[in-house]
Amino acid sequence: MAENITESKMEEMQLNDGAAKEAATAAEEDIVDPWTVATSSEKGIDYDKLIKRFGSTKIDQALLDRFEKVTGHAPHHLLRRGVFFSQREVNKILDRYEAKKPFFLYTGRGPSSGSMHTGHLIPFVFTKWLQEVFDVPLVVQLTDDEKFLWKDLKAEEAFRLAKENAKDIIALGFDVEKTFIFSDMEYIGSSPAFYMNMIKIQKCVTYNQVKGIFGFTDSDCIGKISFPSIQAAPSFSTSFPQIFGGKKDIPCLIPCAIDQDPYFRMTRDVAPRLGYPKPALIHSTFFPALQGAKTKMSASEPNSSIFLTDTAKQIKTKINKYAFSGGGTSVEDHRERGGNCEIDIAYQYLTFFMEDDERLEQIRKDYTSGQLLTGDLKKELIVILQKVCTDHQDRRKQVTDDILKEFMRPRKLKYDF
Ligand code: TRP
Repeated sequence: MAENITESKMEEMQLNDGAAKEAATAAEEDIVDPWTVATSSEKGIDYDKLIKRFGSTKIDQALLDRFEKVTGHAPHHLLRRGVFFSQREVNKILDRYEAKKPFFLYTGRGPSSGSMHTGHLIPFVFTKWLQEVFDVPLVVQLTDDEKFLWKDLKAEEAFRLAKENAKDIIALGFDVEKTFIFSDMEYIGSSPAFYMNMIKIQKCVTYNQVKGIFGFTDSDCIGKISFPSIQAAPSFSTSFPQIFGGKKDIPCLIPCAIDQDPYFRMTRDVAPRLGYPKPALIHSTFFPALQGAKTKMSASEPNSSIFLTDTAKQIKTKINKYAFSGGGTSVEDHRERGGNCEIDIAYQYLTFFMEDDERLEQIRKDYTSGQLLTGDLKKELIVILQKVCTDHQDRRKQVTDDILKEFMRPRKLKYDF
């Protein structure tokens, strides 16, 4: 497992965030792990290099074609546009779907702040679409324990944030009969099956291995060192006997941002030793900060992103003031030389949120030629994000505590196993 990580990366991973960013600049090598995403390039992370380093597979046209043929659905715009760009064994999941054999979806979120930002929606929007296409069970892990261990957060507060975030996830329209959302703090203590999987995983992985995979050091608390087993456990159907009736051979597909891959490389490594199928994965790129693609957004920096709780006015101000522009230095310069979509954040955000391919392509052409100004592009984005946020706020208001409780209650879903 450790062979995927170069020695210099291992050293870099042991540094703290700020130092890691400096290291990324000095080494001209991107840093991507579950806690740090840093690059010195304005275009953001070099994803092709990352695929090589992680040993995953690029999503190519052949896979998209097969997806469409097998499911009868044209690929989602996040797939077509390469936001979900990398995978492990998605073909095997399609084989199963073709053979009418079951599988499930597993994704998650670390609840570090009460209010999620628009970028956090992306994996859930995509997961919801996958669930609709395949009609399969979905489990959503809220790692309040992880955030407690890594951040300056009280345990009770992390648990509260998990429930707040669950409301945002539910507001996207998930079907309660097909979806189980759980907080680690709440579910693990109630589930011998989940805990047994955790310790089975723990027994398969040495301290040396997690040091290699995650860059843990001698001074990290022991909670962190064992945490990867907790994120691995939901990959196995036996962790949810109420849903899968104790069946151990139901594989899962995990949609996640690629920084989560180390957890699942470890999971795939131990799965055969426990007699379980390896999870399949579908990885996304990172949603860039307003200030530019050099970093991932941080929920603790209010001006680095658009929050789902932002007002229409805040959205307008933030985008106009902070969205990094790929435009010219003056209107004349821009008209003459055109804008650079590759680094323009308003354009990047449109690729995530604008569904109409033709319109997006027209915008790309007109901005690149200089016909469209940065302000025009931002105006377009402001309207879209204002709608995303007000619609979300309306739907979230309708998620009552009772609805939340039902989603988080361990129970059988509508599928028989
Ligand atoms: N560690 C993830 C985070 O901090 C949360 C998470 C748990 C997750 N399980 C997952 C994300 C599965 C994607 C897929 O956000």
